[in-house]
Amino acid sequence: MASIDLPDPETDGSTSVERAIATRTSRRSFARPPLELADVAQLLWAAQGVTHVRDGVEMRTAPSAGATYPLVAFLEVAPEGCAALDAGLYRYEPGAHRLEATVQEAIHDALTEAALGQAVVQAAPATIVLAAEAERTRRQYPDHGDRYVHMEAGHAAQNVHLVCESRTLQSCPVGAFDDDAVAATLELPARLEPLYLVPVGNRPADQ
Ligand SMILES: Cc1cc2nc3c(=O)[nH]c(=O)nc-3n(C[C@H](O)[C@H](O)[C@H](O)COP(=O)(O)O)c2cc1C
Repeated sequence: MASIDLPDPETDGSTSVERAIATRTSRRSFARPPLELADVAQLLWAAQGVTHVRDGVEMRTAPSAGATYPLVAFLEVAPEGCAALDAGLYRYEPGAHRLEATVQEAIHDALTEAALGQAVVQAAPATIVLAAEAERTRRQYPDHGDRYVHMEAGHAAQNVHLVCESRTLQSCPVGAFDDDAVAATLELPARLEPLYLVPVGNRPADQ
């Protein structure tokens, strides 16, 4: 299985959080140039990267109920979506800050179809897919685990949106999709359920 080390994430930037919040909006058409690996790395780190270790646990950029960390971030890359990556699907490994190829062929059209044919998915050079092993959180919180996992997906997605704003990238949250079709397209193991798609790409110069 192909493994790709990612460039280190930046932990500082020239855009304030307030500015990124003020300008964030869902953007659905993308500039043509493919994504840079450094941008991909920054977005995946924002979604689920490791920030520090507490009591032996690798803590992540997005909060997690009881630090159960049920989320798994995948990156779907369209043909020529990122110069450094072949089309296909990659799983982000937070601790190693690395990608592992999991589907080594283009699945862009199938993912678009699974997302009910949405033009924003078709147009995006890449889509971050947030999936969850909800059982990790349910075990600890039988009554509220499912709710917590959904909340966490929102935290991770918002991190991606705000980092896009700070980098002349752009993103759009996509929650309307056929769960089974997305799971099948991504060849997800049964323990993982897809929760959120976040198509990302470069921002047109006039936006
Ligand atoms: C949970 C959730 C699911 C969404 N699903 C979709 C979607 O499937 N397709 C889409 O184009 N936009 C989707 N959106 C984006 C909303 O349409 C958008 O956030 C809303 O119109 C407000 O606009 P803004 O994001 O520019 O502030 C979704 C947003 C959220 C929070």
